[in-house]
Amino acid sequence: MKNIKAKYRNKDGLSRTENLRSQPHTKHRVFNNAQVLTRGWYPICPTKDLAVGQARSYKIAQQRIVVFRTEKNNVMALDAFCPHLGADLGNGRVVGENIQCYFHRWEFGGDGNLEKIPCMAKLNSSFDKVKNRSYPTKEEYGHIWVHSSEVSDHSVIKPSGLEQEDVSALYLKEVTLFAHHHVMMANGVDLQHFATVHDLDIKFDYDVAEDVDGTFIWKLKGKIPKENVKGKLANWILGEDAEYHVKFAGGSLVAITYGVNAKVFGRPVPPLNVLWGCLPQESGISKVRIFFVTKARSGIIGKIKNASLHFLTFFLLMMLKDEDIEAFPNMRFNTHRLINADQSLGRFIQLINQSELSDWSET
Ligand code: FES
Ligand SMILES: [Fe+2]
Repeated sequence: MKNIKAKYRNKDGLSRTENLRSQPHTKHRVFNNAQVLTRGWYPICPTKDLAVGQARSYKIAQQRIVVFRTEKNNVMALDAFCPHLGADLGNGRVVGENIQCYFHRWEFGGDGNLEKIPCMAKLNSSFDKVKNRSYPTKEEYGHIWVHSSEVSDHSVIKPSGLEQEDVSALYLKEVTLFAHHHVMMANGVDLQHFATVHDLDIKFDYDVAEDVDGTFIWKLKGKIPKENVKGKLANWILGEDAEYHVKFAGGSLVAITYGVNAKVFGRPVPPLNVLWGCLPQESGISKVRIFFVTKARSGIIGKIKNASLHFLTFFLLMMLKDEDIEAFPNMRFNTHRLINADQSLGRFIQLINQSELSDWSET
């Protein structure tokens, strides 16, 4: 059922705080809770937006972070407000390996330590404790990622099956969800919606494995029914078996691998991988950055192969997204009435609720 007026629907993403008296809402420790931020990686900006010697500040929910690229090409991230009087260090300038505040030119290293005050020849020990918190950064998938706690326990994930590979990625775009990002993540393991939203009544069996580094992975297998044109076509091209994996990390990253062990007309084909990096907003809704990921391939043939995989991933995503996106505007995501068929969703909510919280949380 397609509604061509979907773009005119009221979309403000504030449904979490509406109807609280007449329709009480389950507030979770972490799931769909905009007051807390998990310990995880957040995509702060494309790599090309931060040249050597540049500094900029960005917000992730209620936390303002300055990122700067030193003259030796190291990307550093600190709490943004200067420990002197609180100027935004994003307005400062990079001096060697330090960031210099615009206002009175105090200088801080990438570890957050105070290195210099121009009007004082020497810093005495009373300044030893003057420092800003620093956060781990990574440059992956053509993006700068910042971790929300001082020590990170997992990497910016690679999709299932590519863990040991060099990967190459295409950044598609940023979209606004009009919902908290956990709602979007949950959709990946909502087994009922294949029949109700995508018109494909696949009965999936699934297995959940947790990894020590805070990632967990759903492996889902099912038979594609031949009941409608879509199913018949899928059976004809892909065969009857469907398998996909969904990998979650740190409450902020999700990677889906579509077509695990897929064959087209009997010949094995590589799976299609999409990574979503979530960027919570102060308003409580989230933006999400979408990356297509493939194994790194060199040479002209390799590049053509990867471009073809990116094209197929784009095609698949456009098909699924157009259908999924109809469900989100003004969706409340109540969890009072989970039924047996929602078991997979319940498991996801339970695991997300066990996530470690970062100090960027309000509570
Ligand atoms: S506010 Fe930064 S040096 Fe004064
Ligand atoms: Fe979907």
